Amino acid sequence: MKKIISVVGARPNFMKMAPIHKAFKKVINSHSSLVTHLICHTGQHYDEKMSKVFFDDLELPKPDFYLGVGSGSHAEQTAKVMIEFEKVLMQEKPDLIIVYGDVNSTVACSLVAAKIGVKIAHVESGLRSFDRTMPEEINRIVTDHLSDYLFVTEKSGIENLKREGISEDKIFFVGNTMIDSLVHYLPKAEKSDVLKTYNLQPTNYILITLHRPSNVDDIENLKQIINLLNKLAEKRKIIFPVHPRTKSMLAYLNLNLSLNLMLTDPIGYIDFLALMKNSELVITDSEGIQEETTYLGVQCITVRDNT
Ligand code: UD1
Repeated sequence: MKKIISVVGARPNFMKMAPIHKAFKKVINSHSSLVTHLICHTGQHYDEKMSKVFFDDLELPKPDFYLGVGSGSHAEQTAKVMIEFEKVLMQEKPDLIIVYGDVNSTVACSLVAAKIGVKIAHVESGLRSFDRTMPEEINRIVTDHLSDYLFVTEKSGIENLKREGISEDKIFFVGNTMIDSLVHYLPKAEKSDVLKTYNLQPTNYILITLHRPSNVDDIENLKQIINLLNKLAEKRKIIFPVHPRTKSMLAYLNLNLSLNLMLTDPIGYIDFLALMKNSELVITDSEGIQEETTYLGVQCITVRDNT
């Protein structure tokens, strides 16, 4: 029996794991002695609206391990995940771990597994922004170089990995599990009443999300973006589900906001899909949302210098 542990920690990881967990469930239902798939949640994201809502919406079971690491500086967060995840690996001795995307939990668990000698599969491997000032770029590069199986979502990923000297026999071009989740849950999203809740008409509102430190931790940049949104709000309703990082900065700055600019708590997976699908325009600095809007054929403006 092979034992596999998937590690997730932050909001964008959950929808990337969901189709893989479902695929394992199918295999286990017909061949229960072949493989077991356990879920380890590091607790990098811990608020109910950043984590539990997603497990519920994506029909994921309660994680088998919850490390409860929480927030902190990059070093603190990465170190806490490493210390706690090492205990799980020592106890469970899995054959493989699967890590997702590019968050701090991804690189932390890869480092621990590589040093203990547990094999690593990286889902969403090979993406590069070529901007090493972004923590995610460092996380991607390190994770890819430690991984044994590199699952790539798009052809540019294969080229990026080969250019960095990673051997071709480790690279598997498999597609994008985040889009698999989108396709699976779209019919459910179509039944969502989130537009009614916020009094929005299809294709007549703008959806915005912001959480990159370069946009929201920099006071001048955030002020400029809010000024722009206030102007846009003269023409369209704008719905702005606010990430906790952004919320604390907005509270600190106490800026004037147009009444047409609706700030909400973070929104769950299904309702957010419905909001994306029906919007006229999405403005975002999220990488996942750029991909999701592309698949949905919804216009998206990316608030970043690179992508
Ligand atoms: C992290 C990822 C980023 C991803 C984003 C998605 C890294 C380096 N960054 O950024 O790639 O796009 O998640 O959301 O891994 N907080 C809460 N509740 C929570 C989680 C966070 O209040 O459940 C607050 C804390 O004040 C924390 C801050 O948000 O300090 C930032 O959280 P953190 O996980 O460090 O980074 P994100 O900005 O969420």
